[in-house]
Amino acid sequence: MAARAVDPLGGFDGSTSVPNPVGLAEVDRVLGGGLVAGSVTLLSGEPGVGKSTLTLQIACSVASTGAGVLLVTGEEAPSQVAARAARLGSIPPSLMVLDDTTVETIVSTLAEERPAVAVIDSIQTLRVAALDASPGSVTQVREAAARLVAVAKSTDTSLIIIGHVTKDGALAGPRLLEHVVDTVLSFTGDRHHDIRFLRAVKHRFGPTTDVGLFEMTGLGLEAIADPSGRFLADRRLDTAGSIVVPALDGHRPVLVEVQALASPHGERPAAVQAEGLSVSRVKLVCAVLEQRAGVSTFGQQVFTSVAGGASVVEPGADLGIALAVASAIADRPFPAGLVACGELGLSGEVRSVPQLERRLAEAHRLGFRAAIVPTSAADGPAGMRLIRVGTIADAVAELPAPVGSPF
Ligand code: TYD
Ligand code: MG
Repeated sequence: MAARAVDPLGGFDGSTSVPNPVGLAEVDRVLGGGLVAGSVTLLSGEPGVGKSTLTLQIACSVASTGAGVLLVTGEEAPSQVAARAARLGSIPPSLMVLDDTTVETIVSTLAEERPAVAVIDSIQTLRVAALDASPGSVTQVREAAARLVAVAKSTDTSLIIIGHVTKDGALAGPRLLEHVVDTVLSFTGDRHHDIRFLRAVKHRFGPTTDVGLFEMTGLGLEAIADPSGRFLADRRLDTAGSIVVPALDGHRPVLVEVQALASPHGERPAAVQAEGLSVSRVKLVCAVLEQRAGVSTFGQQVFTSVAGGASVVEPGADLGIALAVASAIADRPFPAGLVACGELGLSGEVRSVPQLERRLAEAHRLGFRAAIVPTSAADGPAGMRLIRVGTIADAVAELPAPVGSPF
């Protein structure tokens, strides 16, 4: 085959991937400004988490500026979608709907209508007529996605494709598509709480660190303006086994309450459970606590959780987990105005964490006036006392003496 001429990269217009705001602040933040024309975004989440609601709100918001938006509804009848949209607010005249699941028809319609934004709800209901496979199968999902990506690029439509995921991976979908789309958003939340998290797992046009926080209400998804205040709202003061951690969710410092409860379960090794925390991380923290600070969890069932449906995966919560467990085992509470933040090493050393200043500023904003932090920590906000600790043993020594103790 003959060689081809090559072009200087600088000669290409890189300004085309400018994001257009969708008008919902939490969504725009996660997307680094908005949706890029001609880009394809996969929105994945478990059934019932609120994907249709979120995309309907995005669609209404974009259409309210007069831009053309097309909803392709394979799962719900247009009358159902209209009823939901009417509950959320008025329906803009440029919001269109297509009740079809045949990919060839959808592609032709997108090419004809050229909407600014289109939503496909959902990839698992689509069928490429030319293929002899059932909707939702690997073959169908792959081919449907390839055709949709191609038409989005040619029409400059920002396409949002909804894909269901199930915990056991029973449905073909999102994982298959991650490499063909520009952006992958994951929408999560647990069944027992109204809080929802929107995260970019992959994003070709910007960083993937910011998290959007919403609450599912009777009037759709509402942004949670003050997540720390929300997560700490029901906290009981002076309770053993509880400590507040200034965690980092993406770029944003969010205060969460880490709780632990120890309950005897006989002469056997500790059994660890975790909600909103990684079980393996909590196990490691318990082992460090036992070996390096002499706090034994042997014979205990150790339950740990993050209150209010929040979750923390970063190692900056290690110290907080350790102190919550130590406080639970000792049955002695930490003072209410205290936070703790630090990563634990296997030798029991307390290591520094990223963005400590911003975490402490957030804690100060919410009225916390003392913090247990790694020795390397710079000065905190004015009026906040920093308790610098080099090891987990030093940190545990900060547990207040039992009431009535002479020490
Ligand atoms: P939905 O967006 O249909 O979820 P998905 O598309 O991810 O399957 O929303 C699911 C749940 O949200 C449903 O149980 C009802 C609830 N919901 C509200 O609580 N308030 C609302 O305003 C809306 C539209 C839905
Ligand atoms: Mg849905």
